[in-house]
Amino acid sequence: MLGHGGTYCFFLRRRTGLGRACRLRARSYNGLVRTIAVTNQKGGVGKTTTVANLGAALAQHGLDVCLLDLDPQAHLTMHFGIDPSSAPATMYEVLTAEVPLSRAAVLAEPHLTIVPSVIDLAAAEVELAGVVGREQVLADALAAEPLPYELLLVDCPPSLGLLTLNALAAAKEVLIPLQPHFLALQGLGKLLETVALVQRRINPALRVFGIVLCLYESGTRLAAEVAEDVRQFLAAARASECPWSQTRIFTTRVRRNIKLAECPSHGTTIFRYDPLSRGAEDYQALAEEFLSTGADGELTCAATETDNACPPEPAQSSEPCPPAEPAMPQEGTYRPCQPPASPAGTPPEPSAPPRAEDSQPPSSKP
Ligand SMILES: Nc1ncnc2c1ncn2[C@@H]1O[C@H](COP(=O)(O)OP(=O)(O)O)[C@@H](O)[C@H]1O
Ligand SMILES: [Mg+2]
Repeated sequence: MLGHGGTYCFFLRRRTGLGRACRLRARSYNGLVRTIAVTNQKGGVGKTTTVANLGAALAQHGLDVCLLDLDPQAHLTMHFGIDPSSAPATMYEVLTAEVPLSRAAVLAEPHLTIVPSVIDLAAAEVELAGVVGREQVLADALAAEPLPYELLLVDCPPSLGLLTLNALAAAKEVLIPLQPHFLALQGLGKLLETVALVQRRINPALRVFGIVLCLYESGTRLAAEVAEDVRQFLAAARASECPWSQTRIFTTRVRRNIKLAECPSHGTTIFRYDPLSRGAEDYQALAEEFLSTGADGELTCAATETDNACPPEPAQSSEPCPPAEPAMPQEGTYRPCQPPASPAGTPPEPSAPPRAEDSQPPSSKP
């Protein structure tokens, strides 16, 4: 259950209510620390926001976290107020010039390091196109030197191109931020197919660790229905050999909160910008739920709130992986958002009364 290396011990009480000690240790994989690719080929679903704020929350718990900005848009880099032109090096040099990752690493906060991106990274896809082993460049960079981190979170670009393939080849786990609406589900099928392909051909250990619902509209029926569809889809894969057969949906949902949209323009995380906001509350809860899973996502606590929190053991005789796409709701058959049929109908999502900060549309990035 416990991995090798790392010595952090956390007492989880708040959201899990377990009140028991959970010991989290980083586990080496091919000499690497626990590496999670945070990906979804759809843009604007909360990848960067999750990497920044989940990473910051975990760092505040004492975990040594490194965030890799693998998106040429460099939103994560900007989120921490880092100017790529003044950084010693960026992911571009790491991927194209074999510059050691440690030379590009910038300490943003205690326990929290960022490897910045720059727009040049877009050219890396073209430059690497003719390179043998082009999907393994990031994996090689991570393996080239001992890294003093327990957790690497990779912020992927909104595509399934070479940069994302590098992240999937270098990681052992995938975390998928999902905005609950119909198109997001279609995209999930495509993403899972890609993960399955990478797992088969490049990285046999790869699996989908979790799905986190972001920009969640509490109280809307559509969000609840999509969440339920994802849950059923994952439940149907439990006995298979899919990379998502043990995937959990985090019970913590990151609600839409304007403070989360504002903090990047202040070059900081939600915990420094507005620690009392719902955004801070949600990412803190997500971090605690994350920590209640053991190394490599195994549960070390009996967090049996739902079957998502504690997925069952895989069946003895596993079935082959079913195709991802057909299992997803098809366009035209998806249940539209409807008012409850009767007072006894499906109850709305439990939610606290809205605050002013929750009702405003998100502002654009700097
Ligand atoms: N929970 C949230 N509530 C409000 N705005 C959010 C939330 N999560 C992300 N945003 C905003 O939505 C936009 C897209 O989020 P981002 O994390 O950059 O998505 P991605 O990295 O998937 O493209 C950004 O402007 C971000 O600040
Ligand atoms: Mg992003």
